[in-house]
Amino acid sequence: PTLTIINRAGDAQRLEAASGLSVMEIIRDAGYDELLALCGGCCSCATCHVYVEGDVDPGVPGDDEDDLLESSDHRTERSRLACQIRFADELAGLTIRIAPED
Ligand code: FES
Repeated sequence: PTLTIINRAGDAQRLEAASGLSVMEIIRDAGYDELLALCGGCCSCATCHVYVEGDVDPGVPGDDEDDLLESSDHRTERSRLACQIRFADELAGLTIRIAPED
């Protein structure tokens, strides 16, 4: 399935990614260095903050994720932590924008 990544400069890239990876891993593997993902995906750093754009909805944050997002000055109702979104066939067409750095 494909998804679209929009970087902080506003440039969009559509790419094909494997189901089962987290969106954080997909962004990192695609070579973006803007997404620090310091904790490596264990939901403890909040440096993988992204916004979900478009119509494909990966669902709401879990409780731990929600607490971490609260610590961000840039949280919106579209905020998610990319390491907590597992990419899958049903999320084909997902559009993700990398949030500003806190
Ligand atoms: Fe640290 Fe997502 S990579 S919370």
